[in-house]
Amino acid sequence: MAVVDAQTQEFSLEQYLKKQKTIVEAALDQSVVIAEPVTIYEAMRYSLLAGGKRLRPILCLAACEMLGGTPEMAMNTACALEMIHTMSLIHDDLPAMDNDDLRRGKPTNHKVYGEDIAILAGDGLLSYAFEYVARTPNVPADRLLQVVIRLGQAVGAEGLVGGQVVDLQSEGKTDVSVETLNFIHTHKTGALLEVCVTSGAILAGAQPAEIAKLSKYAQNIGLAFQIVDDILDITATQEELGKTAGKDLDAQKVTYPSLWGLEKSRLEARKLVSEAIASLEIYGEGANPLKALAEYIVNRKN
Ligand code: FPP
Ligand code: MG
Repeated sequence: MAVVDAQTQEFSLEQYLKKQKTIVEAALDQSVVIAEPVTIYEAMRYSLLAGGKRLRPILCLAACEMLGGTPEMAMNTACALEMIHTMSLIHDDLPAMDNDDLRRGKPTNHKVYGEDIAILAGDGLLSYAFEYVARTPNVPADRLLQVVIRLGQAVGAEGLVGGQVVDLQSEGKTDVSVETLNFIHTHKTGALLEVCVTSGAILAGAQPAEIAKLSKYAQNIGLAFQIVDDILDITATQEELGKTAGKDLDAQKVTYPSLWGLEKSRLEARKLVSEAIASLEIYGEGANPLKALAEYIVNRKN
């Protein structure tokens, strides 16, 4: 979507994000509608519609569009990605995991609905996400199948779940290596970010070489995203983050800043983002949103 600043006539990320966020919020609102039993749908909607940057669906839509697809082709998957991201946060905040009270500036799901319903709300969102991808209208079934496979890999023990397990096992340890930290983050956050971009490309009909190129872009921004997350945990306030700040220090977690210091962490994040941006040169102006999103990831304040 060409969104240019009225004065400079240059691509405006701010306007692009605002516009895409509005479109995504409206699609999310329609994706999960209240039915019986009402409580579970309310709990699912409570977290799904609690705001957030909507970076994952926006990445999916941007990749699809860059490769010649339409927003309609990618919208169900974009919503499904946000459902999965949201469910992972609902479960991550549970007392058995990080035991957090605040998410996206609001009480966490289990604080409002209780632990039992919060677990089920996560399960409901996870299952529905796959159904929702499969129900995408007017996209060839073989593309949808590829998306479902990649999504399953990114979310299961091979991806997000595996990353979370190693993260839990590393808690309280002071001798966590950079390799282990990279494993945690490439699986816990990187895998889902990667499938946001690759699924958008697949839905648009991209060929394997293009998908591989976009995987690399996504891996770079995924790692940069996590480094910045670790930096913000130290430097940002609770108000800025909409979640508890300083948690990593409190939990004595090994993070990129704890291994490298803040300065080197910033430099590494910037390097990864520069590489990601350079890899999209061949796409010309069509790559503006994905390039600007990469920039945003290192410059963000929450
Ligand atoms: C936030 O990490 C948590 C995640 C990115 C995902 C955690 C994964 C799970 C709980 C597994 C969920 C299950 C499935 C099937 C996907 P963080 O605690 O480092 O960040 P935070 O400060 O935002 O809580
Ligand atoms: Mg957490």
